[in-house]
Amino acid sequence: IKTLNIAVIPGDGIGKEVTPVAQQVLEKASEGVVNFNYTNFELGAERYLRDGAILPDDELEEIKKQDAILLGAVGDPRIKAGILERGLLLKLRFALDQYVNLRPTKLYKGVTSPLANPGDIDFVVVREGTEGLYCGAGGAVRVGTPNEVATEVSINTAYGVERVVRYAFELAMKRKKHVTLVHKKNVLVNAGDMWQRIVDKVGEEYPEVTHDYLHIDATTIFLVSNPSRFDVILTDNLFGDIITDEAGAVVGGVGYSASGCINATNEYPSMFEPIHGSAPDIAGKGIANPTAAVLSTAMLLRHFGYDEAAARIDAAVEADIEELGSTKRSTEQVGKDILARL
Ligand code: NAD
Ligand code: IPM
Ligand code: MN
Repeated sequence: IKTLNIAVIPGDGIGKEVTPVAQQVLEKASEGVVNFNYTNFELGAERYLRDGAILPDDELEEIKKQDAILLGAVGDPRIKAGILERGLLLKLRFALDQYVNLRPTKLYKGVTSPLANPGDIDFVVVREGTEGLYCGAGGAVRVGTPNEVATEVSINTAYGVERVVRYAFELAMKRKKHVTLVHKKNVLVNAGDMWQRIVDKVGEEYPEVTHDYLHIDATTIFLVSNPSRFDVILTDNLFGDIITDEAGAVVGGVGYSASGCINATNEYPSMFEPIHGSAPDIAGKGIANPTAAVLSTAMLLRHFGYDEAAARIDAAVEADIEELGSTKRSTEQVGKDILARL
């Protein structure tokens, strides 16, 4: 039986609380199927405050040698916004060329949606992961003066867009065969036009897959007025970030929303993490919902083709939510309840 090497980066706040639960579930669900050899990386706020390190080169090189990464969350109110987010999380996504940020959204039975009539919600957001406004292109001049100018430039390459578009169409083939491109092509005419042309071109290779287009602003309407219309939502880095938090809220909270930062060529490890952050408002209380972190381990298993073990986790989570989703439970208790079903 095979052994996979996993880098574990619990990170900050509730990341440290949900990651151990996720690891326990992964272990249990994989018994007799695949072994894991974990290497813990102490990266995040405590480390930064102690020795100033964010993601040292030698540790990045170690991480590159692993098969996959499990990450909790990063970010801490004591540290200026962006230092850890850019220096650690985004650095990993970019250095490991994780160009597909896969974010499934599903309304589980037993979860109370804030929508009165949510309908069947089951879609996946394919968010581009290595381009757009996240590249760090731009800068600031005359900072702090009345004449300050700040820019962030959105980088979109035909290469980068085409590979994620292709991924979305392949994924749609395994689902309900519908792709919705989300952009703002009525204003962002350069990038928007390129995204649309590439979708049209790639779409010709997938005659069974229908595709349509929505502006990002209208998308935020349909996510609450008719979320069951979606199958695969394809969008850029920033739009994808924003709508997946909204999607999480629509299906009962980001505590249920898992993600995979995928390097689909497997040149570098992919990373699995909840979509939520370190949640400083509830950190340390032991009440964070570990479900998203748990579901991200199912995504990890599926990434390596262990579909049955992944399905066991999904089924345990589904049954757990159906029976106990409306009860108030500690992080630890949710973990125990899920483990008991495996
Ligand atoms: P957040 O996702 O941490 O929290 C938003 C709200 O959702 C909070 O009220 C929080 O309590 C709640 N919440 C989040 N996860 C939950 C869970 N598992 N169970 C129950 N409630 C949960 O977003 P934020 O407050 O905007 O950001 C906090 C910090 O996290 C910032 O430093 C931000 O940069 C960082 N962040 C990191 C990641 C990541 O590491 N992937 C993602 C988002 C935000
Ligand atoms: C997420 C987060 C990150 C993002 C931040 C923390 C860099 O919000 O994973 O959704 O914007 O991608
Ligand atoms: Mn986000």
